[in-house]
Amino acid sequence: MTIDIDDLGAPAGQRVAQGEQLVLATLIGGVGNHAGAWRRPNSRVEEKYDLALFRDVVTWAERAKLHAVFLADGLRLDLDTVSSQPFAGLEPVTLLSALAAVTEHIGLIGSISTTFSEPYNVARQLASLDHISGGRAGWNLVTSAWGEENFGRELPPHAERYERGAEFAEVLLKLFDSWGPGAVRIDRAAGVYADVGQVAPIDHVGKHFSVAGPLNVARSPQGRPIIAQAGSSGDGQAVAARFADLVFTTGRITHDDSIEFYRSVKSQVSAAGRDPRTVKVLPGVSPIIGETEAAARAVEKELNGLIDLESGRAKLSRQLGNAFLDDLELDEQIPAERLPAEEAVEGRRSRYGVYLTLIEDGWTLRRLIEWEVASSGHFVPVGAPEQIADLLLERFEARGADGFILLPSYLPEGLTLLTEAVIPILQERGAFQTEYAGQTLRENLGLNAQPAPVPA
Ligand SMILES: Cc1cc2nc3c(=O)[nH]c(=O)nc-3n(C[C@H](O)[C@H](O)[C@H](O)COP(=O)(O)O)c2cc1C
Repeated sequence: MTIDIDDLGAPAGQRVAQGEQLVLATLIGGVGNHAGAWRRPNSRVEEKYDLALFRDVVTWAERAKLHAVFLADGLRLDLDTVSSQPFAGLEPVTLLSALAAVTEHIGLIGSISTTFSEPYNVARQLASLDHISGGRAGWNLVTSAWGEENFGRELPPHAERYERGAEFAEVLLKLFDSWGPGAVRIDRAAGVYADVGQVAPIDHVGKHFSVAGPLNVARSPQGRPIIAQAGSSGDGQAVAARFADLVFTTGRITHDDSIEFYRSVKSQVSAAGRDPRTVKVLPGVSPIIGETEAAARAVEKELNGLIDLESGRAKLSRQLGNAFLDDLELDEQIPAERLPAEEAVEGRRSRYGVYLTLIEDGWTLRRLIEWEVASSGHFVPVGAPEQIADLLLERFEARGADGFILLPSYLPEGLTLLTEAVIPILQERGAFQTEYAGQTLRENLGLNAQPAPVPA
C-alpha cells in the first residue's frame, strides 16, 4: 500500500512555507569523498589520523548548525585501492567520543556492523557515547557487504544479514530500555544507588542472539540513541521501517527516483505501525562546489584528472557483484550478459541497482568509473552555492528527501563552501535551522523523547 503523500505533512512545494526544514548531516572521516581529493595541495591528508583535522571539520559543521556528523566504517583494507587512495581510517566510536569533548550540540553518528559485532558490546559503546556527549549519539546500522575474512567466517547471504540486523536492533532497543528513566536514585542517606525495580533483564532468546541483560551502563540522556539505517534494498527498507529514525540512501540522479524511494520507505514505516513523519529520509549527495559554476567545473576536471582509472575499474567491478571488466576499453559499454540480476547480488544490492540504471542509460565504462570514484554511486551535482542550494531545496519540496547526508567531495573548500555559502542561503530562505532546538540529537531532530515500544 503506497501512503497518501498528504499524510506526510505539508503538501509538496509548500514544506518550507509551512515551517518544515531540512535535516542535514555531513560525512567526516576522510579528506573528501572524491578519490582524487587527497592529491590536492591543501587536502590535509597528512592529518588523516590527527584529531586536529576532525576538530576543525566538526567545528565548521557545528557552526553551520548541521544536525550531525556521520562517520562511515568498513571492516577490511582493500589493497587494490589503498595504493592510490587514503582508504579506511579511525574507528567511529573512538573518534566520535573524542569529538564529543570538543562539541556541544552536533549529533555524532557512527556506522557499526550488525554482522560482525555483538549487540551487548555495541549497546555499551552507544550508551557510553550518549552519556559523554550529553545525548548526541547515533548509530548507523550496516550489515557489511565485505570483511568476512577478518572474522573467520563466510559472509552470510543478503537476507540473512538483514534478519540478523533486525534482531540486533531489537536486542539493542531492549537493552537501552532495560533501565527505567528514574532507576538511578543515588540516595546516600539510605545507601540506595539504583531502584532495581526499574532495572530489568531482557532475557532475549532469538535465532541469532541470546542476551540476558540488563545493560551495565545506566540509561543515557536520549534513552535510546538515534538509529540510522543505510540499506535500500527490499530487506534493508523492511529493517528501516521497523527501527530507523533516519534512513540514509544513495542519492539518485533524478527527482522521480528519489520520490519513488521516499514514498516506498514512508509507506513501509506506516505499514509497520509507526508515524512516517518521525522517520527522516536522507539521501547522500556529493556536490562539487566552486565560487562560480565555472570554478566548480574546473575543480571537477581537476579531481577527475587525479584519479587512477585502473584501481577505479577494480572498485567498480566490486560494486557490480565482481563483474569481469578487465578486457573492456574505457569508452565501451558493459555488455548486459556480464551483469547478474539485482536480486542475485549478495553485496550492496541497491547500490548495484543504481549502477544498472546508469548502464541501461548507455553509460560507458569510463563514466561509470569516474562516477564510482567521485562518489561511490551517490549523486554528484556540480555548481555554485546558489545552484546547489536550489537543487537541495527542489528535491526537499518535491518530497524526494527530508534532508541530506552531505558527502563533501574535497577538503577544505568542498565542506566550507557548504557550511559558509550553501547553508546561509538555505537559512535565509527559512529552509534550515539557525539555532539548535534542544540539547539531545533526538530533540534537535524533533523526534519523540519517549520512543514507541520495541517493534515485535
Ligand atoms: C549514506 C550511506 C552511508 C553508508 N555507510 C556505510 C558504512 O559506513 N559501512 C558500510 O558497511 N556500509 C555503508 N553503507 C552501505 C549500506 O550499508 C548498504 O550496504 C548499501 O546501502 C546497500 O544496501 P542493500 O544491500 O540493502 O541494498 C552506506 C550507504 C549509504 C547510502
